[in-house]
Amino acid sequence: MKLKALLILGLSLGSLVLLIVLNECLRKPSPQFILDQAQLDILEVPSAYRSPEVLAFGKRLYLTSCSDCHGNYGTGSKRAPSISDSTWVHGNGHFPHVAEIIRHGIPGTMMLGWSTKFQDTDIKALAAFVTALQTHPKAKL
Ligand code: HEC
Repeated sequence: MKLKALLILGLSLGSLVLLIVLNECLRKPSPQFILDQAQLDILEVPSAYRSPEVLAFGKRLYLTSCSDCHGNYGTGSKRAPSISDSTWVHGNGHFPHVAEIIRHGIPGTMMLGWSTKFQDTDIKALAAFVTALQTHPKAKL
């Protein structure tokens, strides 16, 4: 009798642990989104714009609006410069500068401002994604 009770207790504890572990695994962001937080601090990316969901959203916007000129991984093309390395023509590549460029564009060039097309939260998600390109192996973002 005692043995049976112990067995049942053991089994339920076992499944509880299994459930907790499974839950933790599912909640973890997928590895490609684990970014270097210290670098994002330096690049002044606001913490609200660092989550995998926001970065994935920024990436979606990027792929529909920017990649034609800047390339899928921000590496540039004949039409536009790289925006994934540490060389910047305008500003220093930190989040506030990148967001400002996306908002207002660069007058007199093919780089238009996007503030009429996107809400400011969208622009910030885009800016977070573009800024993060500098910190991460491009193909994985
Ligand atoms: C029609 C082509 C085109 C599209 C689309 C475009 N850009 Fe650009 N972008 C350019 C060009 C050209 C420049 C360089 C302007 C210059 O300084 O001569 C530029 C410059 C930039 C820069 C500054 C680069 C630096 O070195 O300072 C950033 C950041 C940028 N673009 C982000 C974006 C984002 C984000 C999008 C999408 C919302 C986007 N661009 C869409 C053509 C484009």
